[in-house]
Amino acid sequence: ACVFSDVQSAPPIEVFLLNRLCAESKDPNKVNLGVGAYRTDEGKPWVLPVVVAAELQMANDKTLNHEYLPVAGLPDFRTAALRVLFGSEHKVITENKVEGFQGLGGTGALRLAAEFLKKILNYDIVYVSSPTWGNHKGIFKAAGFSQIKEYRYWDADTRGLNCAGMCEDLMAAPPKSVVILHAVAHNPTGVDATKEEWAQILHVCRERELFVLFDIAYQGFATGNLDEDAWAPRYFADQDMDLFVAQSFSKNFGLYNERIGNLAVVSKDASKLPEIRSQMEITIRVMWSNPPNHGARIVATVLNNKAYYEDWKGQIRTMSDRIMKMRHELTDNLKKLGTPGNWDHIVKQIGMFSYTGLSAKQVEYMLSKNVFMLGSGRISIAGLTPKNVAYVAKCMDEAVRA
Ligand code: LMR
Repeated sequence: ACVFSDVQSAPPIEVFLLNRLCAESKDPNKVNLGVGAYRTDEGKPWVLPVVVAAELQMANDKTLNHEYLPVAGLPDFRTAALRVLFGSEHKVITENKVEGFQGLGGTGALRLAAEFLKKILNYDIVYVSSPTWGNHKGIFKAAGFSQIKEYRYWDADTRGLNCAGMCEDLMAAPPKSVVILHAVAHNPTGVDATKEEWAQILHVCRERELFVLFDIAYQGFATGNLDEDAWAPRYFADQDMDLFVAQSFSKNFGLYNERIGNLAVVSKDASKLPEIRSQMEITIRVMWSNPPNHGARIVATVLNNKAYYEDWKGQIRTMSDRIMKMRHELTDNLKKLGTPGNWDHIVKQIGMFSYTGLSAKQVEYMLSKNVFMLGSGRISIAGLTPKNVAYVAKCMDEAVRA
């Protein structure tokens, strides 16, 4: 018998299944609102001009080569990533209380965090928001966490944050729990805590001695301003919390397939960083040995060059402005159609996504019209264009009335 004869199919990975179904569809009206990836007004992927400039410069730089990087990653990248996250004047930087470790995208940074928390610090319980990004639970399960729990987050009635429920659930967390907090532009809901609410959340994390792991995959996409979007992790670091922050540059650099991320480790005891680094390196060594260069070099080249850095900030604004414009256009179209219900949340939600509130049955209708979106009702606003937004609104209108 074949040794593989008992292998069963795993469930599909929803976002990538949607990509395939959309690519295969022959419908000229098809729209991909599944994966969180930026698109232009023409519905095309966008290679940021500043990325092209950096790549050209790299291609002509005869001092570069394809030797292995250090296990912890490209040094210029790691320090630049931390400056984007915290701002160069933040005390964790000036007091040398933070170090970065290059990860394979945000996922790799999260996986590294999970491995370290489980194997080195013996954590075994993790709390994720309900709902959360489709990969959080799997990453922690794969690292051996035996308890993956949810805290309340989305309030279906207000289509906003249930901060009281969230704090209550976290207050009931057992000692030695990890909590994953979306730093900005919550995926999938597009709903973030206010500054006052963050203060309450911090209070609970302190009180229960929860280990906070921020996931920041959309810095720049909420307000278009990198500093404003990193407010929450900076605030927690201000308050002398030991922290992990998993950064992704997939979205804000459009470097999805280069797998470039960074795990920032903030230790209030700076003298522990060498030991932490050595354990991180051993953890990395058995997972990917050492990280890929290309994406790290692009990000480092841009962040370490004043002119490029300014260009990049402008290009982030181009992306976040277009997304905001599409939120308004979708809402205006629904209003024009007189679609039953209130759709103001589409404009109020931030980042790349809207949690539309469409039911599973209504999503099924959307799929039947070749408008591809997650079963949860999440749409990627970046997939909307001036050409397809009226069609999407019309399908939503029909779905709601059906
Ligand atoms: C998404 O949420 O659509 C993206 O982060 C892609 C992914 O890996 O799920």
